[in-house]
Amino acid sequence: MKSRQIVPGVSWVGAEDFDRRLFDSLIPLPDGTSYNAYLVRGREKTALLDTVDPSALDKLKANLEGVERVDYLVAHHAEQDHSGSIPWVLERYPEAQLLCSAPAKAMLVDHLLVPEARVRAVADGETLALGGKTLRFIYTPWVHWPETMSTYLEEDRILFSCDWFGSHLASSEIFIEAVDCVFAEAKRYYAEIMMPFRRIVRQDMEKIRPLDLAMIAPSHGPIYRDPASVIRAYQDWTDDMPHNLVVLPWVTMHGSTGRMVEHLISALVDRGVTVQPFNMATADIGQLAMALVDAATIIVGTPTVHVGPHPAAVTAVTLANALRPKARFASVVGSFGWASKMAESVKAGLPNLKVEFLDPVVCKGYPREMDLKALERLADDVALKHAGLGLTSPQPGRRGGC
Ligand code: FEO
Repeated sequence: MKSRQIVPGVSWVGAEDFDRRLFDSLIPLPDGTSYNAYLVRGREKTALLDTVDPSALDKLKANLEGVERVDYLVAHHAEQDHSGSIPWVLERYPEAQLLCSAPAKAMLVDHLLVPEARVRAVADGETLALGGKTLRFIYTPWVHWPETMSTYLEEDRILFSCDWFGSHLASSEIFIEAVDCVFAEAKRYYAEIMMPFRRIVRQDMEKIRPLDLAMIAPSHGPIYRDPASVIRAYQDWTDDMPHNLVVLPWVTMHGSTGRMVEHLISALVDRGVTVQPFNMATADIGQLAMALVDAATIIVGTPTVHVGPHPAAVTAVTLANALRPKARFASVVGSFGWASKMAESVKAGLPNLKVEFLDPVVCKGYPREMDLKALERLADDVALKHAGLGLTSPQPGRRGGC
């Protein structure tokens, strides 16, 4: 896709990647992604904000054809999908100075081997006048790595936020009106990379609260023309209060745990609790991560394999522990053949979560009536705990349609 003007003097010069299906050899990208770079031309100076993934360098080169001078290259984030083409830009534009946050300087040198002499760390709040275009640098750590920063273009009231507010979505449309159009993609992105740093992200949000914003231009996915909509979504996602939701990653081998999960789902729904089950044999871990954003309770359903949980259930436990969601309660349900310590193993696998563990329901063989009753008691317990917190329903996972 060719360079596109955003406002006079500011252009998108990035790359759409419609075909990419995996990020970090881990994260599914069902909708592809984009690497957004922006060119800001003042009367006297020109700045390029971020670059693109090295796999898309040809597209950046094409979009910079005819641009004879770049005075500043701003690196918001050292991860290679934005910084990976910095070496080419520095070679193509020998006059360019690389600007970044103080913590980013060493990371850019380490990861990209850029000459230290070409890099200048800017201060938090520092401004840079390009001539009718003024860039204000704002340190916004942990959206996604510790060195991340954002840039506010004062005259046009645009926040360039890099990963923050981004979405993995390749599209020929670079603008959207509001987050409703990309709600699922934006939430997936927050869940996968920013949820563990939820409280710091909230502090970052306080830093941008005073800004008068006409647009938010992230480095993945479309540009928001209604910035307040995505800020509101982030306020909900980063808030300490979860929603009236049980997330239930489960797996079964011979049907016993599957029967228990089925009964538990019905019992929870009967008690007014929303449930999102994920069969870990086939689950998209990105969708599981999205559900964890809202969950008040996580219940793991697993049969016993060599005394412990099934490896597919361990994947869910590892993910939940790494993403550190705001869940308040957790439990385990499942079956065993002759001996089991799987409930203890699941609990031990969640040290990062600040949860109250509710009594697990573990049965020998196929669940009998007393086991189903125990599952109903667990559902009673969950419903009572959720009611005690006054939780509201999660927002539906809207997608597309704008
Ligand atoms: Fe899009 Fe953390 O890089």
